[in-house]
Amino acid sequence: MKTVVITGANRGIGLGFTSSYLKEGWCVIALTRNGLNADFLEGLNDEKKRNLLEVNVELESELSIQNSAKKVVGLCKHIDLFINNAGVSIDQPFGAWTQEAFIKSYQVNAVAPALLIQALQYHFNENSKIIQLTSGLASIDTAINPLGPFDAYGMSKAALNMLTRRVAKKFESQKITVCALSPGWVSTDMGGDEAPVSVDQVVPLLTQTIEQLSVAQSGGFFDEQGKEIPW
Ligand SMILES: NC(=O)c1ccc[n+]([C@@H]2O[C@H](COP(=O)([O-])OP(=O)(O)OC[C@H]3O[C@@H](n4cnc5c(N)ncnc54)[C@H](OP(=O)(O)O)[C@@H]3O)[C@@H](O)[C@H]2O)c1
Repeated sequence: MKTVVITGANRGIGLGFTSSYLKEGWCVIALTRNGLNADFLEGLNDEKKRNLLEVNVELESELSIQNSAKKVVGLCKHIDLFINNAGVSIDQPFGAWTQEAFIKSYQVNAVAPALLIQALQYHFNENSKIIQLTSGLASIDTAINPLGPFDAYGMSKAALNMLTRRVAKKFESQKITVCALSPGWVSTDMGGDEAPVSVDQVVPLLTQTIEQLSVAQSGGFFDEQGKEIPW
């Protein structure tokens, strides 16, 4: 049985991934701050309940990250897929920027994925994949909506993209694929109600793209359909 580790597994796109990989018969290790919601758990059949393992993590805390990584490696022999999905978007317009928002964005969106990858590094195999949920707002070339309030977010996701490229090189000899994947604008708590695409619509595209990504594309930055995004 294949194992996937997903951060931010309790809502939005992370919950969509959790549901989808359970349906496909994977063992899912769900990293959340406060556990998965009771309604979701009640809706699972016995097999899916057995295949779902929960680990708590607060991604702003290095100690919590270390503890959760220890629990993860105690639960599985190896990790086939690690999805750094959790993220935070603190929207502040220029003029209202705060140090706190920049630091929190950087901690959750870039530092936590780095520390988790480091802590889990010996539990990936040849052909394992590490997927970082990034954003089109991380693209320096396209600099989407520079007048909008997404500065801390875009900067932190650009850092996540750099992490992706650097870690891909570190894992190159082990043939581990490390890619940054942007889901597009999706209707979640973060994306808001006006987003044109639902979690149910985007998750099949993302999982298909993850399946198709190969080590030849490691270090790349892609959209939900697997098309390269300019850096
Ligand atoms: N939705 C979009 O339009 C969009 C577009 C581009 C990229 N993305 C990226 O896609 C990923 C998923 O987004 P989403 O829309 O599903 O977001 P979401 O609905 O806001 O969910 C965010 C998830 O991250 C978790 N999280 C945030 N801070 C955390 C912390 N300090 N410790 C542990 N967990 C934490 C949340 O846990 P709690 O429930 O405990 O808060 C939640 O599970 C993110 O990386 C996001 O940046 C989303």
